[in-house]
Amino acid sequence: MDDATPDLSRYYEVAKSATRCAVFTGAGVSAESGMPTFRGEDGLWKEYRAEELATPEAFARNPGLVYEWYDYRRGIVAGVEPNAGHEALARAEDLFEEFTLITQNVDGLHQQAGSSNVIELHGNIRRDRCNVCGHHREEGEARECACGGPYRPDVVWFGEALPVGAMEEAFRAVATADLVFTAGTSTQVYPAAQIPYSAKEYGAWVVEVNPEPTPFTPLADLSVRGPSGEWLPLLLDPAVIRPDRDTR
Ligand code: OAD
Repeated sequence: MDDATPDLSRYYEVAKSATRCAVFTGAGVSAESGMPTFRGEDGLWKEYRAEELATPEAFARNPGLVYEWYDYRRGIVAGVEPNAGHEALARAEDLFEEFTLITQNVDGLHQQAGSSNVIELHGNIRRDRCNVCGHHREEGEARECACGGPYRPDVVWFGEALPVGAMEEAFRAVATADLVFTAGTSTQVYPAAQIPYSAKEYGAWVVEVNPEPTPFTPLADLSVRGPSGEWLPLLLDPAVIRPDRDTR
């Protein structure tokens, strides 16, 4: 762990009695898998200008450049595996009566780790969507849909709306959750960044997992400074938070 280990006793009290849990994740949870984050030291947005690549205008102006960038990112996604943080979250589905995973990530690593109930706020890079008729397909070579429109990655670009209903579903989950995690996100990109704040407003106990402080840190009930691949397995250890359950 990076900093001195904080006092987790109150956390464990809350976690042991919690029945509804929601988790909000960002690029940091995939960092230990080898996925670059967006705003960190080697963040993707430092190397590339977002407005040149991840906007509808960029795609209209220069689809080739946008395809090239997404092909590069798909290459990275294809070569990485879920890490211990993703795996801890997949296991956690069985620890609570209700468990909702809300992610800003487009890499599909939560599902690959076994999570079954994932709200993807920013889409999924492994899928394509026709820019004209909206038809979805797995990523593929041909750039043109049967309707004649161009396929594009099924991700949310700057200036675009989030998938219909996704934020509503996320707000519903944090409104009823007693325990909420916000992990690996800089909490800077709205509307998604509103989620941990809403969780607090609705009265949930909120844990932040991040090696760096974020704008949300002062509001967190517990803020652990370190990698999610180390902290999530520790905080969601079934043997500790469900000691009476046979977890063999
Ligand atoms: P960011 O790149 O903004 O933030 C990543 C966060 O992860 C930072 O706060 C890091 O400190 C933290 N981090 C780094 N390594 C970590 C680790 N091993 N464990 C835990 N945390 C770690 O990424 P997001 O917050 O996900 O949107 O960015 C939000 C959105 O901005 C993305 O979904 C993307 C981007 O524009 C779209 O593409 C629409």
